[in-house]
Amino acid sequence: MRSFFLTSLAVAGLASAAVAHIAPDAERPYRKSLGFGPVHPHAVFRSAPYQVQAAGLRASPDVDPLDVATTFVVNHLRDVLSETSSFVLREDSYTDEATGVTHAYFRQIVNGVEVIDGDLNVNVKDRVVLSYGDSFFHGPAPTVVVEEGASERDPHGEYCSRLESQLLFRPEATRGEQVALHASEAGNAELIQALHQSNCGSRSFVAESAIHTHNDEFTNKPALLAFMMHATPSESVAQDINANFRKHIVRMRSTFDTAYTGDHATTVEYIHNVPDTVNPVKARIGYIQVPEGGKTVLLPVWKFEVEMADNWYEAAVSVTKPHRIISVVDWASDAYAPIRREQESKQPTYHVFPWGVNDPSEGNRTFWNAKPDAIASPVGWHTLPFENDPQYFGVRRKAGSEKFRNTTTTWGNNVFAHENWEGRNAWVDNYRPDAGASLNFSYAYDPRETGSEDALAEAKGYINATVTQLFYTSNLVHDLFYRYGFDEVSGNFQQHNFGRGGAENDAVIANAQDGSGYNNANFMTPPDGQNGRCRMYLWNTANPYRDGDLEAGIVIHELAHGLSTRLTGGPANSGCLGWGESGGMGEGWGDFLATTIRSTANYSDYPMGEWAANRVGGIRNYVYSLDETINPSTYKTLDKPGYWGVHAIGEVWAEILWVVSQKLIAKHGYSDTLFPPQPLENGTVPAGDFYRPREHYTLTTASGAQVTKAKPLVPKHGNSLAVQLVINGMKLQPCRPSFFEARDAIVQADQVLTSGENFCELWKGFSERGLGPDARVDGRTPWGGGVRTNDYEVPLACKEEKIPEDPEDVKLDFII
Ligand SMILES: *[C@@H]1O[C@H](CO)[C@@H](O)[C@H](O)[C@H]1NC(C)=O
Ligand SMILES: *[C@@H]1O[C@H](CO)[C@@H](O)[C@H](O)[C@H]1NC(C)=O
Ligand SMILES: *[C@@H]1O[C@H](CO)[C@@H](O)[C@H](O)[C@H]1NC(C)=O
Ligand SMILES: *[C@@H]1O[C@H](CO)[C@@H](O)[C@H](O)[C@H]1NC(C)=O
Ligand SMILES: *[C@@H]1O[C@H](CO)[C@@H](O)[C@H](O)[C@H]1NC(C)=O
Ligand SMILES: *[C@@H]1O[C@H](CO)[C@@H](O)[C@H](O)[C@H]1NC(C)=O
Repeated sequence: MRSFFLTSLAVAGLASAAVAHIAPDAERPYRKSLGFGPVHPHAVFRSAPYQVQAAGLRASPDVDPLDVATTFVVNHLRDVLSETSSFVLREDSYTDEATGVTHAYFRQIVNGVEVIDGDLNVNVKDRVVLSYGDSFFHGPAPTVVVEEGASERDPHGEYCSRLESQLLFRPEATRGEQVALHASEAGNAELIQALHQSNCGSRSFVAESAIHTHNDEFTNKPALLAFMMHATPSESVAQDINANFRKHIVRMRSTFDTAYTGDHATTVEYIHNVPDTVNPVKARIGYIQVPEGGKTVLLPVWKFEVEMADNWYEAAVSVTKPHRIISVVDWASDAYAPIRREQESKQPTYHVFPWGVNDPSEGNRTFWNAKPDAIASPVGWHTLPFENDPQYFGVRRKAGSEKFRNTTTTWGNNVFAHENWEGRNAWVDNYRPDAGASLNFSYAYDPRETGSEDALAEAKGYINATVTQLFYTSNLVHDLFYRYGFDEVSGNFQQHNFGRGGAENDAVIANAQDGSGYNNANFMTPPDGQNGRCRMYLWNTANPYRDGDLEAGIVIHELAHGLSTRLTGGPANSGCLGWGESGGMGEGWGDFLATTIRSTANYSDYPMGEWAANRVGGIRNYVYSLDETINPSTYKTLDKPGYWGVHAIGEVWAEILWVVSQKLIAKHGYSDTLFPPQPLENGTVPAGDFYRPREHYTLTTASGAQVTKAKPLVPKHGNSLAVQLVINGMKLQPCRPSFFEARDAIVQADQVLTSGENFCELWKGFSERGLGPDARVDGRTPWGGGVRTNDYEVPLACKEEKIPEDPEDVKLDFII
């Protein structure tokens, strides 16, 4: 462990040295991020309801919905299941209390090994399967995990060369005049070069034979090292791995543990002393699906979870050809394209830019001392159990002593906020303001213009105010998301879950003025039960510097990565929004939520990041606008050069959602607050002016008895309803969703919530930007490529007084 410690220190040291030398105007190196993987042409999302009937399944509404889901899967997979091919129900499946929908997640097992991209999500309500997404492997299972002679066969060959050719016709997309070039695009550009030289990531200087020489035993270390050569942002680390391959293999040590997916046990290896990582790498064997000759085949891979200073990768590397990376997802998401050049002891007070003030150009700070949301944060923002408190981990406490600790700093159950000037990974002991017994977090913020060499010190001078702001915004976002259903069982971020389910010890680590970069922000989302990490940077775009922590839109965008990643494909699967359209929507939801939160009853267009970037119009290609001459984005825009990075794709998605939400606002009006009412003494939430009066419905049990059930609470206004449908849609959609699937999930979320009364408003919004029912994509690529066709029509049911001219026009193929 000691040498591991030294390794991580050395790497962090390099990073901070680099930062220290950067003059405000110097071009910064980009954070590197990789993301790609095979597409699944066979994957589907079906949102037509299914009635599940089976012997042994009680036809009663109180039948366990997980039994319904499991029965459905058994029926649905009749052709797939065999002695060697089965599935497990994942433990992160849950029932959404608000909607009554059970979200069940299944993982495919073949030959006792997980198919890491074999995902099934089944949404069940009142014993009906509302929808399901399926990316299981449907072909014949291999007879053993790694077949004799498998290294001679070359299914990767086809996949890798196709990947390469798809990339090659788009590399110019990364050049051009785009101001907002995402770090991952820069990473991909490198990757393109590497791919060009050799299939699927083998770098020219990697001696393939060297890797194979060390691959005699059934070991994953050569594969991991090969991956690290691509993953490391440091050329010297890569060179060192290449030159000292054997030494590194010898230094790496393994420990083992057992992990469970449902009741399926897998051996997990922890590999220590891996260059450029900050924690031992988790490794396990799995299958992944790759195309071969028009079919899909299973390929054995090592699945690695690699935590590095700036990335947290989930990578699949071929077992038989360990120099080939088959898929990689970065759990870290950059906010932005970097721009070139109760138990509570006391009511706290925060001197902050209040909620709704997007940034310092929009308003002044005020004293905020409202109570935290009683449902979302029952013990407030500054209290957490000693046993979940990282500052007390390993500290033995007297039996019978207090369970909860009250803090006077920006340290609580949802968020740990602090400076991170060093840009390192350590955070527990970083500086955070201490407001003392008064809990009055009131600190000066009055930055002045300085000589450029003093600009950083000037910003550090108001660290108390900025950490306070980050803590405040992040906690409010926690509470807001919670009230729309991002709760413990669905995988939210809290140290302690109050016995309400879900995995614990995963509050957000929020780094203010993080020294690892400028002019950006990022968020790492590991699976439920591990802390999310938000890094906010200073922006050297003006003098005095602008501090991203003070721009709420940036903070909200980041935290929304945690929301969308945990909700899509289930809390324990962080690999569902990796690249292409899925990864793009991961960005888009953040922009949409940030923009919706800052909007007011009087419609206005909004940019993203305008203040921090000190750039009129902000950091996206367009401001968000209903006006097509101001923001012309449509679904087809994704075909354009420059639209294969996640931020550009996300911008299109956010624009579409913005248009959709305005349709709902036009119909239902606007709520001045997005925060639902506080609960009454007896715990019930009053409808107030926020929700419609609660409705009920009845179901008949097997014995003929009538059961009355409450319908979900429905936000009354267009903006709050839009947020609710978007978040509920995330829970319904499958892993690796496309725009179509996310759209269909939102339409289905409305079906569940309101019986579909907004069906036509939603479709009108989607169609207005080309995402009508007949929109198409042909030849989708792992990068979100392909050729798209817009559809500006709405479903027939929504065409007012328009009689179809010929029967061809009558389309009934979207039954929701
Ligand atoms: C925290 O504050 C609560 C409410 O004032 C109090 O009951 C509890 O004893 C405090 N905990 C500790 C460890 O002081
Ligand atoms: C902040 O307050 C000052 C003086 O009270 C006022 O002049 C200024 O316009 C305010 N700034 C914003 C952005 O509202
Ligand atoms: C907090 O402190 C500020 C001065 O820094 C003061 O103006 C304000 O009244 C205090 N608020 C409370 C609730 O104590
Ligand atoms: C932050 O606040 C503390 C008091 O809580 C004060 O001692 C310290 O000087 C402040 N730091 C800065 C940089 O102003
Ligand atoms: C909206 O505009 C009206 C009329 O200009 C104004 O009276 C009102 O204060 C504005 N509301 C908001 C929330 O900005
Ligand atoms: C809770 O209290 C409210 C107001 O007193 C009442 O209308 C409601 O029926 C109560 N709900 C329950 C479940 O007791």
